[in-house]
This record gives sequence, C-alpha cells and structure tokens, in this order.
Amino acid sequence: MKDKVLIFDTTLRDGEQSPGVRLNMEQKLEIGRALVDLGVDIIEAGFPISSPGDFESVETLSKELKGVTICGLTRAVAKDIECAGEALKPAERGRIHTGLGVSKSHLEHKLKMTEDKALEVGVKAVKLARQFTDDVEYFMEDSGRADLDYVYRVVEGVIDAGATTINVPDTTGYTYPEEYRALIEGIRNHVPNTDKAVFSCHCHNDLGMATANTLAGVLGGARQVEVTVNGIGERAGNTALEEVVMALKIRPDYFGVDSGVDAKQLLSISRLVAKRTGMLVQRNKAVVGANAYAHSSGIHQDGVLKERSTYEIIDPSMVGDAKSEIVLTARSGRHALKHRLGELGFNFQDDRFEQLYTAFLDMADTKTEVGDSDLRELVTIN
Ligand code: KIV
Ligand code: ZN
Repeated sequence: MKDKVLIFDTTLRDGEQSPGVRLNMEQKLEIGRALVDLGVDIIEAGFPISSPGDFESVETLSKELKGVTICGLTRAVAKDIECAGEALKPAERGRIHTGLGVSKSHLEHKLKMTEDKALEVGVKAVKLARQFTDDVEYFMEDSGRADLDYVYRVVEGVIDAGATTINVPDTTGYTYPEEYRALIEGIRNHVPNTDKAVFSCHCHNDLGMATANTLAGVLGGARQVEVTVNGIGERAGNTALEEVVMALKIRPDYFGVDSGVDAKQLLSISRLVAKRTGMLVQRNKAVVGANAYAHSSGIHQDGVLKERSTYEIIDPSMVGDAKSEIVLTARSGRHALKHRLGELGFNFQDDRFEQLYTAFLDMADTKTEVGDSDLRELVTIN
C-alpha cells in the first residue's frame, strides 16, 4: 500500500488573504462543502481572532462539515488560542494551528524576541492549545530563511510540548526544491522525536517554485501538503492543490504516495473558486487552465490526432469534463483541418482539399483562431 499524503487545504485562510478577495459565509460554506466532496483531509477555515467573519467561518464550518478536520489559525498568543478553541467547539475533529517566526528577520524585526524567548513562547502556546484539542499543528514561519540549528531546536521543543504536526513554511518563496527537500530531511534526520509528528510543506510562489518545493518536501518525507485551489494566496500565491494532486497521480513511480483526492472534481472546484473569489485562472495554468489540453500547432495536432499521449501526459477526463481540443490557427496543418472538416460532415479529396487548405491559411493569418462557422463559410465560398 502506498503512503498517504494529507491534503491540508487553506483556500479559505491563506487563499482568502489574496489582495482583493473577500468571501462571505455562504460562499465559504459552498467552497467548504466542495472541498469535503473532493476528499481533502483538513480545511483551514480562517483565523478566528482576526475578525468576526473569520470566527464565524471556523465555527460554521465546524458545525456543518463532517468527515474532515477543521483548522483555525492563531498566533502564539493565549487569547488567539482560546478564541480558536471556542470557534472549533462544534467540530467533529478540530485542529489549532499556532506558531511563530523562526528566521533572524522575523525574530529581530517582527517579533523582537531572542531565539530562546520565541521558543519558550511557542512551547507555551502548544501546551495551551493542547488543552482544547489533541490535534495541534505548529508553524515555524519563514523556515526557508532560518538558521537550521534553531529550526531543529524548535521542532524538538514543540513536539515535546505536544505538537502533532510540524509546518515548515517557506513563507517568502525563497527556497529551491533541493534546498526545501534538504530542510525537511535535515529536520527528520537531526531531531530525535520526529517520529511523533507529521511534517507539512507550506510553500509560497514568489519565484514560481511552490509546487516543485512542496513535491520536493514530500520526497524528503513530509506527509502533509498545504495548498489552495488555483494556487491563490498572498502575493504570488500558495501551492496549487490541483498541481500537487495530479503530480502524485501522474508520477506514482516517482513519488510513491497517494493523496486520496477525487481528481475528477478538480476542474469544477477550480471554476467555483475562480467564480467566488474573482481570481481568474490564467489560460495556460497547469491542470485547470482553458488551454491545458488545447493544441494549436500542426506538429502537435498531428501527433495528438494519431495518439493523444504523444503530447498529453494528463488525460483531460481525469480532472472532470475537460477534453483534448484541436484549435485551428495559422500554425495548424492539413491533418487537423481535414479532421475538423470531417467532424463537421465535409470530406474533400486531394485538389479540392488543397484549395481549401490554402484558403484556410489565408483566413487564419487574419484571425487568432478559425472556428466552425469560419470553416463553413470557407467551404461555401471556395
Ligand atoms: O506562509 C506562512 O508562513 C503562513 C503561516 C501562517 C502558516 O501562512
Ligand atoms: Zn502562507
């Protein structure tokens, strides 16, 4: 049996922190339900102390959603933790996600604490959180830029205090895959009590590395990934859920782990989140973009028409109602034109077809795409 990677979805917390996004309660519940159907393991529903809306989000999702763990974020501050404990009361399974920065930059400029003091505060926070739930996750903010010996000390201390999941965030999207993997491996190899916790990847996309870093973390032994639908989130965003899920599905030979997510729902949840957040998905976005299964150049179209897998590693039906698409453009060849004309009921032989192909290229040079009505017109006037 393959190892399982837990999917921790933070669309409703880190994702909702995207500038310009604000979801109302009804929309959060709608997305929460879709996440449960998708099969995620943990939903981070908000940061309860930050606003009444976030408190309501964690409390309502705790009440309404079953078969999933609901998580509330806190700072390592008593009133935050008590507030999250209150919001999570109705949950079938509730998790408190608390923590503190670990990099020099965070300690000196933001927290204004020494390493020892920050560790003491973190340990105290975990112990308090454990009074509300057995499921406590500790985040070491900005781990990607932190001193390793300090990271090791924090991990050991907070696990001893009762943390059951350790989140290793690359908060600023600073690391590269080899480094992020080494960070996870280093922790697991150097800290004596790591068998008592699950390690979690939380990567931001400032240098476009979020998915690669998350997958590298999985190779390094992490067994939870923190993701958002469509990769929405602060600045350049978080790791995209759909990219990680499909990477694990398409390359079981390489990763050897499973997510348990129903990939057939990826497209529909992507569309739902795009619609409710107003964060449009770029056409060339991996897995769920409008062009993800579209082919426009003659060489590619010829290959795909002979055998889909020549230019597609994902069968689009795996992610929902997507289909491979042949888009006719000035770069398209005879094979694609003949194929589409055939689908429209037109079958022309040699000279007639050549004449149409020449006319098609003339028309295609004036347009970004030649559609079915254009083809009908072409056939009529030529
Ligand atoms: O990016 C980050 O470090 C976070 C933490 C609060 C988990 O979002
Ligand atoms: Zn984050």
